[in-house]
Amino acid sequence: MLNNLTAMPADPILGLLTQYREDTHPHKIDLGVGVYKDPAGHTPILHCVKTAEKIRLETETTKVYIGPAGSPQFNQLMTELAFGVDHSAIITNRIRTVSTPGGTGALRVAGDFIKRCNPNAVLWVSDPTWANHIGLFEAAGITVKTYPYYDYDNQTLKFDEMMSALAQIGPQDVVLLHACCHNPSGMDLTCEQWDKVVALTKAQGFTPLIDMAYQGFGDGVDQDAYGVRQMAAAVDNMILCSSCSKNFGLYRERIGSCSVIAKDAHSANIAQSVLLYVVRCLYSMPPAHGAAIVETILGSAELTKQWLDELKVMRDRINGNRAMLVAKLKANGVERDFSFIARQKGMFSFLGISPEQVARLQQEFSIYMVGSSRISIAGISEENVDYLAKSIAKVL
Ligand code: LMR
Repeated sequence: MLNNLTAMPADPILGLLTQYREDTHPHKIDLGVGVYKDPAGHTPILHCVKTAEKIRLETETTKVYIGPAGSPQFNQLMTELAFGVDHSAIITNRIRTVSTPGGTGALRVAGDFIKRCNPNAVLWVSDPTWANHIGLFEAAGITVKTYPYYDYDNQTLKFDEMMSALAQIGPQDVVLLHACCHNPSGMDLTCEQWDKVVALTKAQGFTPLIDMAYQGFGDGVDQDAYGVRQMAAAVDNMILCSSCSKNFGLYRERIGSCSVIAKDAHSANIAQSVLLYVVRCLYSMPPAHGAAIVETILGSAELTKQWLDELKVMRDRINGNRAMLVAKLKANGVERDFSFIARQKGMFSFLGISPEQVARLQQEFSIYMVGSSRISIAGISEENVDYLAKSIAKVL
């Protein structure tokens, strides 16, 4: 049977990890995968996570199965974190949340859930979007199409074109939106633009699927959830996929959540039964450790404060890196205007250079980024920014 297989190419993002690790260049720089790095290039474990793990070690009493929904306390705290404790959808009991193996697990659960709502639904994603969105929804048997989003020439949003495209989409389909820190472009909707998208979603009747993988990495935990909260207050049906990989630094623990919002509590219970069925068929139950860490943190006022402080350090460092790169490029004589990098949000921006220039940066300078010229801003540091700016100047 295996004779019929043809080899798959390495994942465009994860494949870079191996290449980077094998590179022996003393000044190599990893701007590939979206993971936070401290100024020394290390991805640390947050102090609040370490404390929560100690508490967990001392208080955990069983390893028995947790059930397809995962931990009820985690699910409730994640719902409150995303929507805000006093959100109307929480008060009217319209939200059902399950714990998932990371944000990717949440998206796949959403994919199978959508398939059960409407087997013919088309999922509309921004052009561009996170590369894995397309593969994972197609793997769930969903047709994926794109709507205009990023203007590569002017480094802005194609907002009018996006709105015109969304105005053609009807109630049978699903539109994927990024809550904040758009991956890969770093180009987010403003609050005013969100308001317009929410009104259009309501008018057209399509179901919004919001992916929130970076809550707290843009402007702050509440600010980054603006679109999520406005949308949930306005529409009858919505799906939210959240990740704890970046904001809690729990990458390899694989923890996230998938929330479905229905028009009332009764419909929400039906939706939940379908979610649980989908989970049981996909992976039976989510891992428990990451959820236990998050619920220990969010269940303690003291640890929550510490987490918010640590999150702010990560956010500020990324924003500082953005400004630092723009300044260094200028200082190294680069005439092209890169100031858009400092205006964009979150982990990523496109440098806007050609695939040939990306390849040269990797081959000649051991600087790694995705072929689209997406850079992970956290990989920049005071130590490497000069070498990075000089190398970019050379290939331009
Ligand atoms: C990224 O886009 O680099 C991250 O979301 C990591 C991943 O799984 O691709």
